[in-house]
Amino acid sequence: MLVIGIAGGTGSGKTTVVNNILRDLNTESVIVISQDNYYKDNHDLPLEERSKVNFDHPRSIDFDLLKTHVRALKNGETIEQPVYSFITHTRTGETILTHPQSVIIVEGILVLTDAELRELFDVTIFVHADSDERLIRRVRRDIQERGRDLDEVLSRYQDTLKPMHQQFIEPSKNYADIIIPNMKKGHSVAVKILSSVIKEKLNSKV
Ligand code: CTP
Repeated sequence: MLVIGIAGGTGSGKTTVVNNILRDLNTESVIVISQDNYYKDNHDLPLEERSKVNFDHPRSIDFDLLKTHVRALKNGETIEQPVYSFITHTRTGETILTHPQSVIIVEGILVLTDAELRELFDVTIFVHADSDERLIRRVRRDIQERGRDLDEVLSRYQDTLKPMHQQFIEPSKNYADIIIPNMKKGHSVAVKILSSVIKEKLNSKV
């Protein structure tokens, strides 16, 4: 089994990298765990309060549950991933039954900030994108998919996303074995190198 941690700022293109790796590896034996599913539940707070939470600070993530789940998968156990709603800012109550596989990808903005979680990764990756590109993608996505308005997205970027990126996310780049540069041609060269590293490691492990 190979556990891969993929970090990078909001809108950096982590999802695209993950999808391209999945396509390149061309195997069913990969599962993806998203840090987004591990936001703390906060259902005891009213919606108004929940929406004001700093979602870019490591304390907003239930790292204990995430680590418990990664350890369980490594032990060959099945887990139930929580499902999180970006509209209501809380867990939906549903879960995703996830069986262990030979490759486990854990992706999210903060996955390289937790020392114990890093210990569980065999390979660490940081997806880099310039901050203006990330802001453009974030504005589009939050308005189209997460029901936010422009003013809200821009204020959140200035007041929270940018300082948290500088304080926690960017420094975690130091823990990456591989840094994937700005999205060019869908990161094709970087993804090919990565997929061959994964294939090689998988072959040498069995
Ligand atoms: N977030 C939010 N509302 C919540 C919880 C989280 O807007 N209730 C935001 C956080 O502010 C954080 C972002 O979700 O910045 C994390 O998701 P992101 O990394 O942007 O999504 P991915 O799809 O993983 O990233 P990429 O664009 O790199 O694929």
